[in-house]
Amino acid sequence: MGKTYKIATMGGDGTGPEVLIEGIKVAEAAAAKYGFSMEKQDFDFGGERYMKTGETLPDSAVEELRQFDAIFLGAIGHPDVKPGILEKGILLKARFALDQYINLRPVKLYPGVETPIKGKGPEDIDFVVVRENTEGLYTGTGGVMKKDTPDEVAIQTSVNTRVGVERCLRFAFDLCQKRHAKKAWNGLYDKDKEEGKIGQLTLVGKTNVLTYAFDLWERAFHDIGPEYDNVKRDYAHVDATCMWFIKNPEWFDVTVTDNMFGDIITCRGAMIQGGMGIAAGGNINPEGVSMYEPIGGSAPKYTGQGVINPLACICAGQMMLEQLGEDEAGAAIERAVIKATSEKMKSMSAGKMGFTTSEVGDMVAQFVADGV
Ligand code: IPM
Ligand code: MN
Repeated sequence: MGKTYKIATMGGDGTGPEVLIEGIKVAEAAAAKYGFSMEKQDFDFGGERYMKTGETLPDSAVEELRQFDAIFLGAIGHPDVKPGILEKGILLKARFALDQYINLRPVKLYPGVETPIKGKGPEDIDFVVVRENTEGLYTGTGGVMKKDTPDEVAIQTSVNTRVGVERCLRFAFDLCQKRHAKKAWNGLYDKDKEEGKIGQLTLVGKTNVLTYAFDLWERAFHDIGPEYDNVKRDYAHVDATCMWFIKNPEWFDVTVTDNMFGDIITCRGAMIQGGMGIAAGGNINPEGVSMYEPIGGSAPKYTGQGVINPLACICAGQMMLEQLGEDEAGAAIERAVIKATSEKMKSMSAGKMGFTTSEVGDMVAQFVADGV
């Protein structure tokens, strides 16, 4: 008998619950195929519950969530709730309270998926963004003075600690090493052409302006870099990165950056990999409980129509299984997704897939079961 994983499921708002059903369906198909099981417990945190009870994610729920092996999330954000309440009260609360200090966001263009970048294909767009997830501008440090007067002052401080920065950088260096080893092992590198190719980690920052914060990042980067002698260190300013993700996406292998910049550049990353319908992410605590989510949000206008693309959530499920150590199951989901994008689906956009939400889930689950 294989292992049993305890999974907390949280559909959340808008189209979140719909995509999560498909994400679970596919993960279950992989579990059946690869001989492990998932014991699931559902949590109904989100806008509806907040409007009824005033509760976002209470401390007692955080304590409960600590007992799980992973959290599988649909989306947070409700049109009838003022922006910030659910995002901070649920999503950011979970990230911070469970110390999910990495936000891992792969940017990979699958065959058959359209990218807005002319002349670039799957061989050019395959990199990962490691976003610091518990510091920077997201800590809520700051304040307001003289509110609603002409003299109002608003301060929002970016918090960067040596410990926080270093653990994020180490995760990125490790990942870069592993990624390289895996690629070489899978024969994905053209041996003759790329012999000796080493992993490359690009620190994305703004050392020319944020001379305290990114000075710390840069020093830490070069201090610990020599411990990873098969990783080449590279640096790019965040604004230049926004150009190069479009102009030369093939340059990037693994990138690492702070919370705010990571938020912004991963939206650009999502667009070049085919849009929010396919972009997945993981909020990871390598020593604790991690939470996986499609990064696109709740897309409320499509709620209940069966038109939203569940692939982002399905791919988040893949990341979850890989992080739980079920690599084969993860790889099987990826192959099934690629078969769907390359041979079946018309588009990644809501309503244009040529299938309903549940049909996409059924199809990918079937491909997993068939062992494509
Ligand atoms: C994301 C989102 C969140 C963030 C919001 C909803 C708080 O944009 O996951 O990228 O800013 O991190
Ligand atoms: Mn974002």
